[in-house]
Amino acid sequence: MYCVRTVTPDVFLLGASDRRLSLFENVFPVPRGVSYNAYLVLDEKTVLVDTVDSAVGAHFYENLEHALQGRPLDYVIINHMEPDHCSTLGAVFRCYPDAKVVASAKAISMIGQFFDADVTERCMPVKEGDTLCTGRHTFAFAMAPMVHWPEVMVTYDTTDKLLFSADAFGTFGALNGNIFADEVNFQSEWLPDARRYYTNIVGKYGPQVQTLLKKAAALDIQYLCPLHGPIWRKDIGWFVEKYQHWSSYTPEDRTVAIFCGSIYGNTENAAEILAARLADKGVRDVRLYDVSHTHVSELVSEAFRCSHLVFASATYNGEIYTPMDNFLRDLKSHGLRNRTAALIENGTWAAVSGKQMAELLGTMKDITVLEGTVSLKSSVKEAQRQSLEALADTLAADVLAHGE
Ligand code: FEO
Repeated sequence: MYCVRTVTPDVFLLGASDRRLSLFENVFPVPRGVSYNAYLVLDEKTVLVDTVDSAVGAHFYENLEHALQGRPLDYVIINHMEPDHCSTLGAVFRCYPDAKVVASAKAISMIGQFFDADVTERCMPVKEGDTLCTGRHTFAFAMAPMVHWPEVMVTYDTTDKLLFSADAFGTFGALNGNIFADEVNFQSEWLPDARRYYTNIVGKYGPQVQTLLKKAAALDIQYLCPLHGPIWRKDIGWFVEKYQHWSSYTPEDRTVAIFCGSIYGNTENAAEILAARLADKGVRDVRLYDVSHTHVSELVSEAFRCSHLVFASATYNGEIYTPMDNFLRDLKSHGLRNRTAALIENGTWAAVSGKQMAELLGTMKDITVLEGTVSLKSSVKEAQRQSLEALADTLAADVLAHGE
């Protein structure tokens, strides 16, 4: 049965949430589910803005048919061609053969890559600044390449000031009846997933997100309508500010996150001692993560949030312990920069993980690795306890020097 939601008197939210999906993109756990948003504008012409993942296709088709109320579909605006938004596009092409397809030239070329349907005749390529008038509404298109694919654009309704922002400003998490961010406890319950979504999906493309933010700053936005998660109509500036931090690789919080890769618990013991000493010295909200047990997408998200990062790793097969190696390479892939890092290594016969972690971090931009890697030979002894104390002094002084 249909479940169409009203955004404004003539803009409707179609789509649905998937609460059964284990791994978004077959890699990111989504224990809170995920929503796939599509929008329908009922103007003199009817306009569908994006489609949805096939997982919620049945609901989407019902919603679309119901919301159209027997009217034809005149336009399909495609902001993003990734299959979580377009796997139902082929069926829309078949069901609404007269609908014009409005998209960037790159998106149009991708249609042919994903579908056999030849839609050349009904495609309307648009470029930066082009507009489409559908009666009362006029839509303006702005290109947003690499937020998160190269073909991405965003669509601004110049009439009612809605920005259909594609993946930007999206988040993991199913919609549970409430569709607006001001109707949920976003800061306490959604922000960690919003951060994890941003950093893991778009984190690498900070400069491109900054470009989009500059374009958005010139607009009067009353509604921010992403393809995942709740719609923003209040406090939009607060969420934009989060995007400013994330996309400029600026830490949100001055604190220490300790990431620990420990086989038998001895490296973890060192990490525990460091965490305790940091707390004693006044560092608030210290975090200690076991990289073998916390999903790497959460580790990446926390590395984007925190100003100071400690990597504590056992040596394994003469290399960095595998889960830590995987995490560090993921951080590099996501372009993290502008952080202060410190290292703890361990090895029973040859501790080399510190040197190798420093080399890996050295390939990333603007990562300052503090001198004085704490080196363990199997377990923490008095000499290492003193080294951890000294490291805690250095880190705490740096964290607290700049204050909040
Ligand atoms: Fe939600 Fe890049 O797709």
